[in-house]
Amino acid sequence: MDGGNGIVRVAQGGVLRLGFDRPARKNAMTGAMYAALAEALVDADRDEAVRAVILHGSEDAFCAGNDIGDFASNAPDQGERPSARFMKALLRLRKPVVAAVNGPAVGIGATMLLHCDLVYAGTGAKLVFPFARLGLCPEFASTLLLPAKLGHQRAAELLMLGDPCSAQEAHTLGLVNAVMPPADVLPHASDVAARLAAMSVASLHAAKSLMRGDELDRYEERMEKENAQFSRLLVSPEAKSAFAAFQQRGKS
Ligand code: COA
Repeated sequence: MDGGNGIVRVAQGGVLRLGFDRPARKNAMTGAMYAALAEALVDADRDEAVRAVILHGSEDAFCAGNDIGDFASNAPDQGERPSARFMKALLRLRKPVVAAVNGPAVGIGATMLLHCDLVYAGTGAKLVFPFARLGLCPEFASTLLLPAKLGHQRAAELLMLGDPCSAQEAHTLGLVNAVMPPADVLPHASDVAARLAAMSVASLHAAKSLMRGDELDRYEERMEKENAQFSRLLVSPEAKSAFAAFQQRGKS
């Protein structure tokens, strides 16, 4: 177990549990957290002892997205963002991934769920893709995955207006497998992961790769396009003022 970098990594019975652990910031992601997640997922892909992965936050927050202070201090043209290594490792992971979501899943916290195989949510969970409201744009293939899943107009409510989606709505839309009391979410995800870990690795590998077909290269291509726009928008005056407004909340 290692929580010093904001990620708690626990391996037991064939299941690797990766917990976001930055409670004072609602598990907003830092560069160190992305790096730890990327490394853990690349290791998990190679390690025969890992047969399923769980991603989870705490009972009051799954993940508040990228740390806004880090966004605010970003200089232009920094090349691949640390989040990209994490998301590519998640995209390329051949083993099943189960997410346990309580509280807000914002920005990359919501986007990563689109790349998980099974998602369980507490009654108070909410998914938010606030990118356009922050002067940014959606990322990590969400501009392909959400319209394909929900249709353009429903996806536009989430990706353009940035409207929050409750756990129940997310369930209705097919973004979440089941909604349950918050305290049940991680135990339930753990039971499901244990079931997966007891199954044939080769069968699950085949099922996952066939379900995603030849789409992975297309997702990565879209990620590159989104990243080009995102990096340009990240240093725009609109984004800078949105970050400043968040940082100034409640200070005057
Ligand atoms: N980056 C940096 N700090 C963040 C953060 C983020 N993405 N999200 C939350 N925090 C900090 C808050 O500033 C606050 O710090 P403070 O105690 O020093 O004031 C602390 O975490 C708790 O957040 P708070 O807003 O008080 O909790 P809440 O339960 O009322 O709301 C959220 C939780 C996640 C809904 C809200 O914090 C939020 O909208 N955060 C921004 C999400 C976002 O836009 N992320 C970027 C996506 S691209």
